[in-house]
Amino acid sequence: MFTWNEKYSVGFDEIDTQHKKFLILTDEVRDLIGKGEHENTVLNKVNELFNYAKWHFDTENIYMKKCRYEYVEEHSNEHKKIIEKIQVLRNDLGKFDADFGTELMLLVKDWFLNHLLTTDRKLYNCIKERNMEDEIIFDK
Ligand SMILES: [Fe+2]
Ligand SMILES: [Fe+2]
Repeated sequence: MFTWNEKYSVGFDEIDTQHKKFLILTDEVRDLIGKGEHENTVLNKVNELFNYAKWHFDTENIYMKKCRYEYVEEHSNEHKKIIEKIQVLRNDLGKFDADFGTELMLLVKDWFLNHLLTTDRKLYNCIKERNMEDEIIFDK
């Protein structure tokens, strides 16, 4: 089980809420699988997570542009890799069983440990240092 911990906070409630949503959606996917729901129902939930990830990454791209952030390319490349991993898992596994649920959870865990704690934190620290939080976080 992979759960939220305050160490994952980037210091902005709105962004933490978005990041928490990935854990909620992952749990929902696993619940649906556990209840033996139809594959299409599971797929719909996986797609919800996929689309939410794309929306969240687009949001961060907007922040990076507004902030004239220096590391847009490396940050965006990590986003692309996460999207690809979700696509591969969704398309190549072929069935939505307990193993899929576990793989999805491990993917999200890897994303939190290797992107959120480093790359995302660097971006949000930069936003704080440049005092751009009002324009960026709450102006969408
Ligand atoms: Fe990010
Ligand atoms: Fe993020």
